Amino acid sequence: MQAQTLHSGRVSLVGAGPGDPDLLTVRALRCLQEADCVVYDRLVSPAILALIRPGACREYAGKGVGHPSAEQQAINARLVALARQYRRIVRLKGGDPFIFGRGGEEALALQAAGIPWEVVPGVTAATGCGAYAGIPLTHRGLAQQVTFVTAHRAAAEDGVDWSSLANSGHTVVFYMGVGEIPTIEAQLQRHGRSGATPVAFVESGCTPEQRVFTGTLDGLTALARQVALQAPALVIVGEVAGLGLRPLSALIPGVAAAA
Ligand SMILES: C[S@@+](CC[C@H](N)C(=O)[O-])C[C@H]1O[C@@H](n2cnc3c(N)ncnc32)[C@H](O)[C@@H]1O
Repeated sequence: MQAQTLHSGRVSLVGAGPGDPDLLTVRALRCLQEADCVVYDRLVSPAILALIRPGACREYAGKGVGHPSAEQQAINARLVALARQYRRIVRLKGGDPFIFGRGGEEALALQAAGIPWEVVPGVTAATGCGAYAGIPLTHRGLAQQVTFVTAHRAAAEDGVDWSSLANSGHTVVFYMGVGEIPTIEAQLQRHGRSGATPVAFVESGCTPEQRVFTGTLDGLTALARQVALQAPALVIVGEVAGLGLRPLSALIPGVAAAA
């Protein structure tokens, strides 16, 4: 049986986008300006936190590498508790809450507790970083499909269906891939993707610290080592990574041009 809604505030699961505050939706900004309490993640940029209504309480809920499931349950419980205390709660998450953001788990917990909730979509890292690095994820004649993959369990046997990612004309965007680069390089080639396939790293995309590097699949691990790649970063594999587009956003001061 579902719980009753009793004097509950409402929770907005808000996507903060990949870093640049200009990429917030109008609705996300409105939520931040009306919030009584904001619970935010590690990847939400300081420039976005600065837009929260002065006087709203703020709680950090970034997860470490320890026990993510237990930590997620604690966050779910905390959101339910805050909804019984405040009127407008914002759960602020990097990118889009429903793309590798565990927004679904939080929504399920809120719904089970009878708390009204909504999702405000955000620009996910793949589309934001693609745009700011000059990499169109699809491109007529080069890429007819695009797949977002979590590399979190890339090395596990049941982690990634590599054979489904090996065709040319297919852009593959790996989230959480920095620790799995040798696996990505080896498995894609083992399943038939050419070693000459263009690749790109976008590190801290859509922020003043953005760095973009390009190379080929057979040199992926060496390139990551050479540039000392740091999280958060995306690994983009596909012909579109070799187009060589240079948007203004890839030329802002402090941004390394693609190698
Ligand atoms: C837990 S996932 C969250 C994804 C998020 N919900 C989204 O829609 O973008 C975290 C991963 O997203 C990617 N990511 C997030 N923000 C990024 C950024 N500004 N630049 C590059 N990669 C980013 C990285 O791969 C990072 O490890």
